[in-house]
Amino acid sequence: MKIVKTIDEVRDAVKELQREGKTVGFVPTMGALHGGHLSLFRRARKHADVVLVSIYVNPEQFGPNEDFSSYPRTLERDLAFCEQEEVGIVFTPDDEIMYGSGKKYLSIEIDELNTYLDGGSRPGYFQGIALVVNKLFNIVQPDVAVFGQKDYQQFQIIHQMVKEFNHDLELIMAPIERAEDGLALSSRNAYLSEVERALAPEMFQRMKEAVNDIQNGLLEPEEMLKQHQKALAEKGFKNDYLGVFSLEKMAPVQTLEKGKRYLLAGAVYLGKTRLIDNIIFES
Ligand code: PAJ
Repeated sequence: MKIVKTIDEVRDAVKELQREGKTVGFVPTMGALHGGHLSLFRRARKHADVVLVSIYVNPEQFGPNEDFSSYPRTLERDLAFCEQEEVGIVFTPDDEIMYGSGKKYLSIEIDELNTYLDGGSRPGYFQGIALVVNKLFNIVQPDVAVFGQKDYQQFQIIHQMVKEFNHDLELIMAPIERAEDGLALSSRNAYLSEVERALAPEMFQRMKEAVNDIQNGLLEPEEMLKQHQKALAEKGFKNDYLGVFSLEKMAPVQTLEKGKRYLLAGAVYLGKTRLIDNIIFES
């Protein structure tokens, strides 16, 4: 496994593979790797000869009051996971390499796709993601890139970016990996206290119940979703959003059409930890 830090090094490594006729499957991460990330590596391996993982906590996607400085950084452990998963190249740039120190003149604006869900709750978040992923795609120039459904809105925005900015790669979305009790795996789960961790799966339980109600014929779910939020609040969750959204534009949907596919997505705080989850379902 090659571990490279600079842009020249990663480009040289990719060029060498391409000379050998090998394809590259890219998985960008912020490290603190868990089973969700590992499932993406395996998925990338199925679609490409060599897996390239980036590990970089991107400051541009954290708001001023968010957890950039406390975000878990576990590089040694991450590299061991990569080795174990037969990752071919790990790219671990630093801020100077990714952004340099000069003034920046350009940014990526995102239209309607950024209005709701995390785009609505976290100003600047998806601009920061689009910026770093755009840079990473230009640096790595992979054949395939894999992202998780866990961050569905991120996937959709990157999908649109690939289309509009003509990135020459295939995008793949991998399903959400969960702990046995249903909690979606996340690097931020490391923040949860024992009590919070025990409570956390309740969110997904409620979301599954909501999907069940809809599939049993409830096509105006607003009131039902409010009840679930109320129940979560009573248990100590602080609700950010919980709603049904269209899969393409990610706009809220009040009245569902039978037989159509939608996204049920939620975000809550448990103590200081922000948890997000979603389910794609057919009504
Ligand atoms: P990070 O949160 O480290 O996630 C890296 C990738 O892992 C993302 O595509 C995310 O959707 C996926 N992932 C996270 N948890 C998952 C789970 N439980 N099951 C399946 N996939 C999961 O997302 C980011 O980093 C950053 O925004 C990044 C794209 C690297 C840009 O900085």
